[in-house]
Amino acid sequence: MTVDPATLKGRDFLLTADWARPELEVALDWSARLKETRRLGMPHRMLESKTVFLVFFDKSTRTRNSFEAGITQLGGHAHFIAAETSQIAHGESPKDMGIILSTYGEAIAIRHDLFPGEGQSYMREVAHHASVPVLNMQCDVDHPFQMLADLMTIQEQFGRDVRGLKVAVSWAYAPSYAKPLSVPQGLLMLLPRFGIDVVLAHPPEYTLLPEALELAHRGAAEGGGRITVASSMEEAAEGAHVVYAKSWGVADLMKKPEEALALSRKYAHWICDERIMRIAGPESKYMHCLPADRGNEVSDEVLDGPRSIVYPEAENRLHTCKAIMALVM
Ligand code: CP
Repeated sequence: MTVDPATLKGRDFLLTADWARPELEVALDWSARLKETRRLGMPHRMLESKTVFLVFFDKSTRTRNSFEAGITQLGGHAHFIAAETSQIAHGESPKDMGIILSTYGEAIAIRHDLFPGEGQSYMREVAHHASVPVLNMQCDVDHPFQMLADLMTIQEQFGRDVRGLKVAVSWAYAPSYAKPLSVPQGLLMLLPRFGIDVVLAHPPEYTLLPEALELAHRGAAEGGGRITVASSMEEAAEGAHVVYAKSWGVADLMKKPEEALALSRKYAHWICDERIMRIAGPESKYMHCLPADRGNEVSDEVLDGPRSIVYPEAENRLHTCKAIMALVM
């Protein structure tokens, strides 16, 4: 299937699963091309005078700044909207916001990621009424811009054909806050579609959402990657090309932070350190979407060491974000 990039104009990007694999490959091609264009210092003002609205229900460093810098480099402009200082806090409906912002600009991007059952359905509601593309900057189900950047980073490290690679997706301990489930879910929903084998490990309470797992298994059947489950980070890491160890919360405890933290302390030994990376093997890489809880999720030695590719991974957030905006806006 050959995709004419023009057919992606106007498309929402709410789940990677909503895009066919050849469409995602176009996005990856554009990401690589935009990265090279920027490296060469060549102008690429593909979205002259266009506006993307960035609606945040949660905090961000990479996502906000990759969108803001990205749209500026493309010749457009971003409006940052904190949900708590907008009329959303007074109960303005997603329908009204979607319709009205559509008349002011060319895309609406939303981060609504903390509570299972809320973010993706809120975005779908905005998208139903908006006449411009709606972009998921992280929800309860998926983090599609992070996923595209992660796949781009894996391809840069291991080559474009990633079939047969093994990625260990493991829970890790973090005392800072109960992080969303969308990153491990997003990895499971995307990587096996490209033929990557994913091994998932987590303590028994840290299960992923059933709807995400269902999409993940459907994608694995389509792309040939396998999804297996291990009982520990050590078991998952054996022979892995990539160890992606990070924390996430318990779905039922996302509104009970004290209880969530008390539970997670039971598993404080789930840290990705040199011992884990030795189990993975000499060629293995460490990935994390960041921010990382240093000394808890991952040791400084690993995060700052030669196997860590977290900074190129974070940089690729810019290029993938620009590619999707340039394609759909
Ligand atoms: N990885 C990521 O989404 O980072 P931020 O939370 O800083 O946006």
